[in-house]
Amino acid sequence: MNHTYKITNHEYDVLVIGAGGSGLRATLGCAELGLKTACISKVYPTRSHTVAAQGGIGAALGNMTEDNWKWHMYDTVKGSDWLGDQDAIEYLTSNAPEAVIELEHYGMPFTRTNDGKIYQRPFGGHIQNEGAGGPAMRACAAADRTGHALLHTLYQQALKNKVNFFVEYFVLDLIRDIEGKCCGVIAWCLEDGSMHVFHSHVTIIATGGYGKTFFSSTSAHICTGDGNAMILRNNLPLSDMEFIQFHPTGLYGIGVLITEGARGEGGYLTNSNNEKFMEKYAPNVKDLASRDVVSRAITTEVIQGRGCGSEKDHVFLHLEHIDSKILHKRLPGVLEHAKIFVDIDATKDSIPVVPTVHYNMGGIPTNYKTEVLSPDAQNTEKICEGLLAIGEAACVSVHGANRLGTNSLIDLVVFGKAASITAKEKIKSYKILSKIDNNYLNNILQRFDSIRQKNGKIKVGNVRINMQKTMQKHCGVFRNKEILEKGIKEMSKISESFKEIFISDKSMIFNTELVEALELENLLSQSIVTLNSAINRKESRGAHAREDYPSRDDKDWLAHSLIWLDQEGNTKFDTRPVNLNTLTSNIQSIPPKKRVY
Ligand code: FUM
Repeated sequence: MNHTYKITNHEYDVLVIGAGGSGLRATLGCAELGLKTACISKVYPTRSHTVAAQGGIGAALGNMTEDNWKWHMYDTVKGSDWLGDQDAIEYLTSNAPEAVIELEHYGMPFTRTNDGKIYQRPFGGHIQNEGAGGPAMRACAAADRTGHALLHTLYQQALKNKVNFFVEYFVLDLIRDIEGKCCGVIAWCLEDGSMHVFHSHVTIIATGGYGKTFFSSTSAHICTGDGNAMILRNNLPLSDMEFIQFHPTGLYGIGVLITEGARGEGGYLTNSNNEKFMEKYAPNVKDLASRDVVSRAITTEVIQGRGCGSEKDHVFLHLEHIDSKILHKRLPGVLEHAKIFVDIDATKDSIPVVPTVHYNMGGIPTNYKTEVLSPDAQNTEKICEGLLAIGEAACVSVHGANRLGTNSLIDLVVFGKAASITAKEKIKSYKILSKIDNNYLNNILQRFDSIRQKNGKIKVGNVRINMQKTMQKHCGVFRNKEILEKGIKEMSKISESFKEIFISDKSMIFNTELVEALELENLLSQSIVTLNSAINRKESRGAHAREDYPSRDDKDWLAHSLIWLDQEGNTKFDTRPVNLNTLTSNIQSIPPKKRVY
């Protein structure tokens, strides 16, 4: 050991890593259940990426059109291209209405209808009567700032419940005991440079997605999938990592999200011939088809030469036909973003948009109780004791191969709450805190120190941009063997180049250069497993479109992929079955069929 970090110890019943929507809902739930809870976040909670969620939170309240949770379940299973687990989807959709009412009672400022109900708008893939009816108005909205309203509401409730927040602490890794149970984490306090070991009965990973592996994404800079990387370092698998969601309407050249709520309010897309091209690709629901379908349609228009602008590489979103009073009331953020970033008055002119990386369907495999799975050859449902995962970091899996818009916010609160219930239940049998092995701690600190002391020749930022451009080029909306193989080769060189980085700032206090290096290492491991999972799945399903395997293959691939990554960068694959059975007898399972919109 050649480092000397002084450690401060803390003891909690529950640790929550991450203070986005799922982390805060879990934290709040644990505090309400009387558990001694700490929430650790690398940013101030209200800066978490949930704040950027726009269009709505999905729940079949039926305030605007007839609706029920069974239709929501049907749409979610279909949207997932049958890769979603139906027990978990039943849990999500049947609990969704209550979860939204709970938010309302916590004080969330939803937009209201004239008679005072929560306002709901249509969103892609949400349809009445099992796909046979019209658009289901299911997205409960706070204008187009729903995530902002949700995050602030939950943070205020957490403060009211006197939760212990450790803000601007960067978690270096999980700590596991000799039997593999997770018994806490080690974290670096950015403000004063101190190191902390948090001992806990239960640790909940709520660290969000890893959108920053790509060059153009709607994700905040903090979306580096730190929890996913900890899972890989702990020799546990990630699941369904090949499924990357491209949001159809990222602002061209900028990447900022233009909410699907814009099309929910009547917006439509056109190509360079002024054609409303979605009529061709999804004759029934057109611009309100699910995201994978719309993103492929835009990409096809561009590939076939019907893209707009001098480079013919984007399409236009039209809102100018909608009453400008409605736009100002329901989509103020869209108007603001269009004005600020591309100087367009969207009440008068169309907005240039392009599919942009938005969400990771894959992540840490869990069951619907949020317990992290540690599958082996004997038992695909084996759990890792002491460890739960929620939100975009987790793969429950309710989104399967393609998530429907609005289903991520509802996932955050339904499974955030579920995690608190599971934590309470588990703590009954976890009587004493596990003893932490000093060697384990030293290995984590050694890794941290070896990055801090790096004195190579390459800038962290250069490695990051190479990774992002490689992912963008080699893991896009359409993939094939050749392009993925090249991506894997490229990524392994980029990963090697990380060994040659230099960290000029060796200090411990607010060392953002070092934070970025740690985050980059996390992103690199996820880039590797994403590319490898994509080449491994030889079919097209949901957001994973293989040009060389254009059809869905339920015979060989109706399964969740699992991938492990060792320290030398070698991957190992396995699969676990998709659960096609529902949780209760309240609803029958929905057998796979052709997915058309
Ligand atoms: O388009 C949007 O407002 C995004 C919503 C979502 O990803 O659920």
